[in-house]
Amino acid sequence: MSYPTYTLEEVACHNGKLETGLWIVIKDTVYDVTEYIDKHPGGQELILEYAGKDATSAFNDFGHSSDATALLKLYKIGQLAEGERKKGKGPNEVRRKNRLNFFPLFRSCSA
Ligand code: HEM
Repeated sequence: MSYPTYTLEEVACHNGKLETGLWIVIKDTVYDVTEYIDKHPGGQELILEYAGKDATSAFNDFGHSSDATALLKLYKIGQLAEGERKKGKGPNEVRRKNRLNFFPLFRSCSA
């Protein structure tokens, strides 16, 4: 099945504060976890912290089980745009992209 692609800027518009729901990125994949946060064994707060952002490191650092990784598949809605994928990129490049994600003033969300 092929999924749509989204930019980090688009993902950032789904930060849980608007009616557009709560999306996060883990390993270049975009997930809509709006319905999941209430069920998260680690609580809502930890996921909310990464709402609209890349949560790959946080997700990996906790060392989630393979069940957790399997669960993610249920919430997959798309992939990151090709130029923004981390895979195959060095850490500096990834950091630069993530910084862009912290400047909401330069962004406008249409929905
Ligand atoms: C949105 C995607 C996520 C899913 C589907 C998910 C799923 C799960 C699941 C199934 C567990 C139970 C333990 C396990 O099976 O590993 C868990 C626990 C936990 N998760 Fe997540 N998680 C997500 C995101 C995150 C993020 C972004 C963080 C950290 C910032 C986080 C931190 C934790 C912590 C600390 C626990 C342990 C709770 C405890 O044992 O008291 N999770 N998660």
